[in-house]
Parts: sequence; structure tokens; C-alpha cells
Amino acid sequence: MRKKIVAGNWKMNLDLDEGLKLAGAIDKYFAEKPAEKGQVIICTPFIHLAGAAGILKHGKIALGAQNCASEASGAYTGEISPWMIKSTGAQYVIIGHSERRSYYNEDDKILNKKTLLAINTGLKVIFCIGEVLNERESGNHFIVVRRQLEEGLFPLTEEQMDSIVIAYEPVWAIGTGLTASPEQAQEMHKYIRELLKGKYGNECAKKMPILYGGSCKPSNAAEIFSQPDVDGGLIGGAALKKEDFTAIVETL
Ligand code: 13P
Repeated sequence: MRKKIVAGNWKMNLDLDEGLKLAGAIDKYFAEKPAEKGQVIICTPFIHLAGAAGILKHGKIALGAQNCASEASGAYTGEISPWMIKSTGAQYVIIGHSERRSYYNEDDKILNKKTLLAINTGLKVIFCIGEVLNERESGNHFIVVRRQLEEGLFPLTEEQMDSIVIAYEPVWAIGTGLTASPEQAQEMHKYIRELLKGKYGNECAKKMPILYGGSCKPSNAAEIFSQPDVDGGLIGGAALKKEDFTAIVETL
């Protein structure tokens, strides 16, 4: 059985006090639950990481960052490297989010470099891929996703792929209220798994968690997550409210 995962991506929201309160509320909610349905991860802004690591006391919630530098250390003003992230107690980092790709011009090559550095530091990487609207409308979505995987991830060895979680986030569904239909999500997730099988073999393809992201909410999560190749979700806006986030986790 593949691991089910729900990860919250807080993006650039919540000040320190608000963020730590939310982390504490989520930790408390799951501490009182008898069984875990899957792995829950919260990916906070950098400044929340160390504080949140101290607050997530019950060991049920993993912690992640939303980006990292492509260099390990040195004169890179304003950057945060994977080992700094790891030193806070975080275990995950999101790499390749569409907002990083589009607003900060991060291309497949730099994303691969960041991914390798993060993995070599001992972090797990939530690697995001997904097409923009005109790529879907012109029927090029499979080509785009294939390129993102081939250039960004497939330079990794099979062993390194054990540190990867893939998140398929169609850009047209992010923060728009438009969700991919369960069929559209399943079709792309199946395609991603086939590409993994072609490159790394059946075992890697079968065990890779592939998350869906894009306007996931309590009302649509169950149907999307019930698709055979959808292993959970990467949640933006709905991860900022304890009730919505925990309700999404409960649909696993
Ligand atoms: P929304 O859930 O707000 O659409 O964001 C999805 C996302 O970008 C998660 O990384």
C-alpha cells in the first residue's frame, strides 16, 4: 500500500504568532486521534519552522519548507539552504511549485539542482509539476508534465527517488476555485506513474506517492482522493484554517 499524504502549503501567509497558533491547533487535533489515516505535513514560511518544530510535540505531523537555495552555504544573501531547513527539525521541502517557476523563473535545471542538494542533505522533496491553462487547452499538458519530470526529476537515481513525493498541480486550478475533475486528475496521475515505470521500473512507480493540488477543499477532496492513482493532496488556501485542513485529512 502506498502512503497517503495531505500536505498544507501555507505560502506567504500568517505572521509568526498566527502560524504557531495554527501549528499548535493542528498538532492538538491529531494528538487526540487514535489512528493515523496518512502522513500529515505542514509546509510553513521559513520563519515559522523552528518554532513549529517545537510545537509539533506529538510526532504525528511532519514539517516542511516551501523552497530552498540551490547552494549549500556561502555568500548568497537572503537565501536559506537545505541544511539550515533540516537544522530546524523540518523533514520536507517543496520544490518546483508553479509560483516559484513563474514568478521567480525557476527552470527545470535549477529545480533539479535544488532537489539533489535537498535529498543529499537528508530532506524529502515534494516535487511539483503541472501545466498552465493554455497548455491544457492546446492539448500539450502531457508533453509539459513529461518534460518537467524528465528534466527536473529523472536525473535522480532510483534510490534517490525514495526521497521524493510528486505533487501534480494544474496551474489553472491553483487558487482559482477551479478544480481538476477526478477523471482529469486520475488521467494525469496514471500517466505520471507510467512515466515512472518506464524510467525506474514497476516497484518505484507503485510506491511513489502522487498528490493532487489545486483548489482542494473539504467538499471535493474525498472524490479526488478516491481515484486509484491519487494518493492525497497538496493544499493551499484550505490549509490556513484548522477546520478545513483537518476535514480534508479526514477524507483520506
Ligand atoms: P490552493 O489549494 O489554494 O488552490 O493552492 C494549491 C497549491 O498551490 C498548493 O501548493
